[in-house]
Amino acid sequence: MERRYGAGVQIEDHLRRVTGARAAHRVARIQSLWSGWGEIVRFALDGAAVPSVVVKIVEPAASHPLGWGSGVAEARKHRSYAVEEAWYREWGSRCPVRIPTALDVAQGVFVLEDLDAAGFPERARGGGRLPDARVAACITWLARFHAGFLGASPDGLWPDGTYWHLETRPDELAAMPEGALKRAAGPIDARLRGATHRTVVHGDAKVANFCFGPSGVAAVDFQYVGGGVGVQDLAYFLGSAFDDAQLEHVAERWVDAYFDALRGAGGGAAEAEWRALLPFAWADFERFLAGWAPEHWKRGGYADARTQEALDALGVTGS
Ligand SMILES: Nc1ncnc2c1ncn2[C@@H]1O[C@H](COP(=O)(O)OP(=O)(O)O)[C@@H](O)[C@H]1O
Ligand SMILES: [Mg+2]
Repeated sequence: MERRYGAGVQIEDHLRRVTGARAAHRVARIQSLWSGWGEIVRFALDGAAVPSVVVKIVEPAASHPLGWGSGVAEARKHRSYAVEEAWYREWGSRCPVRIPTALDVAQGVFVLEDLDAAGFPERARGGGRLPDARVAACITWLARFHAGFLGASPDGLWPDGTYWHLETRPDELAAMPEGALKRAAGPIDARLRGATHRTVVHGDAKVANFCFGPSGVAAVDFQYVGGGVGVQDLAYFLGSAFDDAQLEHVAERWVDAYFDALRGAGGGAAEAEWRALLPFAWADFERFLAGWAPEHWKRGGYADARTQEALDALGVTGS
């Protein structure tokens, strides 16, 4: 910690400084960060404008205990936290949907509004099916986010968002079995990047990154925010909310709901193009999974059928 705040300065001192609190007390760790790169902690504050804050503290591990993680993976992760800093510093105040307010962001320490205290204390539990009202809230959040940033140049963010973006996943591409999807990896990516209607995508819009409450829904985790098309977040969100059998029944309805909300938020100009790109969004994530975790539960018949549509549209044939 010392190196971040100056010699002898602890996180509690830092929090007092940026919040005006008399005292800051560590309450509990919310979770550790991916592969031990730090933690997310709740601190209680005395005498500040808010009773608590949530602090995301990034501490890159010198090397992974299992020796896993190539130079590419570590560079991607470093950059992802720099992007998240840029997001909270330069984009957060322009965001048209609910996210935590950042009280201070510097050198891998994010002092964020506590969303639980702000009226979003509920999380979706794994296992059960996400209630329709929550699916609708997330889909509307995404549509408004995408409509709000239509045409924006993703300065300071990833030029191409999503944590599975092809350019950042050379190891997974190499690990893919030979076949049509591997041959189409570049062309699929090029379609998504070449869209006329581009916006900013969240880049990791899974159910676990939404916080729910009586006042609606808020999203966190902006490490992979960047340029893209809205259906990249939409397909990935649906894939996190529903299993394969459910997708067959409900995906179409939620896609329509997304485009209703997009139109309602002023983003209707993108609809026709993004509808045509939806199979490419599924195929692009499928490409990542096929190299990263070929047996992943998300790889089902629904995603496979959408992937095949994209391959057909590209004229890439064979297995
Ligand atoms: N500002 C916040 N207020 C309340 N809970 C938060 C806040 N930020 C993060 N969380 C909780 O911590 C979890 C992990 O945070 P996240 O930024 O997604 O870290 P990771 O990159 O490790 O997934 C979130 O899913 C959310 O439940
Ligand atoms: Mg997260």
